[in-house]
Amino acid sequence: MIDLTNETWRSNRFGGSEKKRTLIYEGKTYMVKFPDPVRSTKRTMLSYINNQFSEHIGCNIFRCLGIPAQETFLATCIDPMNKKEKVVVACELFCQNGEGNLIEFSRFLLNDTDSNTRRTTTVEDVMDVLEHSPLLQDKEKIKDYFWNMFVVDAFIGNGDRHLDNWGLIETPDGKFSPAPVYDCGSSLSPLKSDHEKTFLLEDGNTFKREEYNLNSVYRMNGQRIFYHEIFKNPPEDLRQAIQRIVPRIKTAAAQIDNFIDRTEGLSDVSKTYMKKSLMMRRELILLPALKRCSEKGHALVRGGGR
Ligand SMILES: Nc1ncnc2c1ncn2[C@@H]1O[C@H](COP(=O)(O)OP(=O)(O)O)[C@@H](O)[C@H]1O
Ligand SMILES: [Mg+2]
Repeated sequence: MIDLTNETWRSNRFGGSEKKRTLIYEGKTYMVKFPDPVRSTKRTMLSYINNQFSEHIGCNIFRCLGIPAQETFLATCIDPMNKKEKVVVACELFCQNGEGNLIEFSRFLLNDTDSNTRRTTTVEDVMDVLEHSPLLQDKEKIKDYFWNMFVVDAFIGNGDRHLDNWGLIETPDGKFSPAPVYDCGSSLSPLKSDHEKTFLLEDGNTFKREEYNLNSVYRMNGQRIFYHEIFKNPPEDLRQAIQRIVPRIKTAAAQIDNFIDRTEGLSDVSKTYMKKSLMMRRELILLPALKRCSEKGHALVRGGGR
């Protein structure tokens, strides 16, 4: 792993919650995320959240599935605050050469918010804005992007794809397109220590409770969405995304496992844990959902032909 301590550093320019700084490296600009000190309210035995590995592997999984995501690399760096060496993740900034600007969806929402319609993190509000915004030329493309991300987030166990954690690129001529995926730092169980993972790997029931019963950050029909529930009876847009993305997840499974195995600095128990949790969600949530969608599709075709 390369060491970034003596490279060129600039002040952080971005919001969010994790500790970050800006790096100039080999002619490109990066946002570098440091492991986040655990705040006392979080239920964990860790003193630092392992969000760097989640970011790096999560973004790579999106790319393996053909969904553009920020380029990342892992490195070491001495934290200037406490002089301790940390593993960090460098995230290459998109639109570095003025090709466009990232508009996080939370900001885009404000185009169509007035005092009577306070927008919240619900599927209904996202869809309403996408459908009615006069600024968007290709609404279907952005809707597909939202649901593609939803499927992959279910796979990587991401409960934090809120409205600041995805967005649109606005080019200088005022056109919008999906931004590359960023902030996968809350996926792939960053809050669990190796000690907990070892225990969970030996206890199948508790493992399943922890890694299967995951919820999305979104609400729909007034309720928080659990991934395993919505995949049993998906709305039409999600059904189509399942049919687009789950076959790719099946094809890329070995490649993803291989990437995890090759990740430097990640403990063996974390590698085993990540691969097992991905396999469980693929086998118990995603593939059965794909099978049901295909059966339903056939039934519709047969029914329509009569
Ligand atoms: N690769 C990137 N290029 C440009 N802007 C980015 C990139 N990644 C994140 N951002 C911006 O920086 C903000 C903070 O990054 P994020 O990864 O969400 O950090 P945090 O984990 O602290 O929430 C994002 O909300 C987004 O506006
Ligand atoms: Mg964020």
